[in-house]
Amino acid sequence: MADAAGGRSRAAARHCRRVRDSRERGSAASCLAQPPPSRSEWNTMTNNAAYSRLNPHMAGVRRVDYAALQDRIDAGYLMLGWADPFFPDPCLPEHVIAAAKATLDEGGAHYSLPIGSPQLRRTIAGKLARVNGMSIDPDRELIVTPGSDTGLWQAMQVVISPGDEVLNPVPSYPSNVRNVELMGGVNVPVPLDAERDFALDLDALRQRITPSSKLIVLTQPNNPTGTVHDRATLEALAKIVIDHDLLVVVDQAFEDVIYDGREFVTFATLPGMRERTITVFSLSKGMAMSGFRIGYTVAAPEIMAIMHGTAVNILGAANTAAQAAAVAALQAPSFVDGYRRTFAARRKLATEIFANVPGVRFSAPQAGLMLWLDTSSLGNSRDVADHIAQKARIIVHPGENFGGIGSGYIRIMLSALRDDIAFADALRRTADCLGSFDPQN
Ligand SMILES: Cc1ncc(COP(=O)(O)O)c(C=O)c1O
Repeated sequence: MADAAGGRSRAAARHCRRVRDSRERGSAASCLAQPPPSRSEWNTMTNNAAYSRLNPHMAGVRRVDYAALQDRIDAGYLMLGWADPFFPDPCLPEHVIAAAKATLDEGGAHYSLPIGSPQLRRTIAGKLARVNGMSIDPDRELIVTPGSDTGLWQAMQVVISPGDEVLNPVPSYPSNVRNVELMGGVNVPVPLDAERDFALDLDALRQRITPSSKLIVLTQPNNPTGTVHDRATLEALAKIVIDHDLLVVVDQAFEDVIYDGREFVTFATLPGMRERTITVFSLSKGMAMSGFRIGYTVAAPEIMAIMHGTAVNILGAANTAAQAAAVAALQAPSFVDGYRRTFAARRKLATEIFANVPGVRFSAPQAGLMLWLDTSSLGNSRDVADHIAQKARIIVHPGENFGGIGSGYIRIMLSALRDDIAFADALRRTADCLGSFDPQN
């Protein structure tokens, strides 16, 4: 018993060392706020030594106080922190609602295949050909997931074993950083270049490749910076991937909202990348179907066979009525054009409003639903976010969870609320708060 406990704490110490090393190497804030508690610490904290048996990779995760967040939402705070289009207002088009209802009315609330219904997979294959330039076999190269969060988890777990190094351009979607740590992998942050609209720094990436590197996780378009990595950069990245026999997970959750006619390249369509890339998609963002929890993942048959084999273990299956709604949305997607126009107008308004706030710097996002504001001259991002919550009763996302340089930034969603006037008012109140922020108070 003592040996087992010793083994665990040695494993925990090794884990902490790895987390610390990866922090130092990339100077990025880890999502693990603290190392996992030791056996004696668990005893002090809970009086229950059984908790020292918990997975050390999981036990150190940052605690989230969801009850406090719910209290704020219930108290009427405006949520400009979540990437949930039009939250909390209704927004679904009639044909999407009708398709979900019809499934329930017909009593069709049974399991689908764990990999998704044939009809949805065929519809997604059509979308991939039309929009992404990918021709795929919906039976062997595709899986439907309950949201893309589970898709990202499954995609990474197919690759990552404890100790593997994962190159993670940051700042990035927090799960894409944290998943690596929860799986016992070693996060190797690659800072995006803040002076070039957060473009990928390929030299920085190359310098961090070691014999233990296995995977690159690319959020494209990037959340939180709204960067669209361009074709030349992605082609150069593809060469690095081939030279070092790496795999890539690409998170394309925000692919539907690209501004200024900019080209968007699906990385897997570049020569040699189809077989090395796992691409994860979502219906939550551009299609504003977050609550349906539908995403999908595309990979080469060899990799997808593993994902199909683990579908029951990791995903269960996506909700059957939600899959019917997804078919309707993907077959008649023109409603998304209206959303795009809304987001483009709000982006313009937001850049005008925040341009006049002293001490705040930003670039207009190239894609996505968010504005990433450099508030480092005002103070720590958590203090700035707290100030906005207290003064304006508006919740924004402090940047530190996004890894890398995030702690000097806050992220504001341009997609909250259905009403444009109410949204503009929220933006102005947020800007006023930033203008009046005093770090001493
Ligand atoms: C970049 C990115 N990827 C994936 C997700 C997960 O979205 P969902 O699980 O709703 O598909 C999010 C959610 O905020 C995100 O921002």
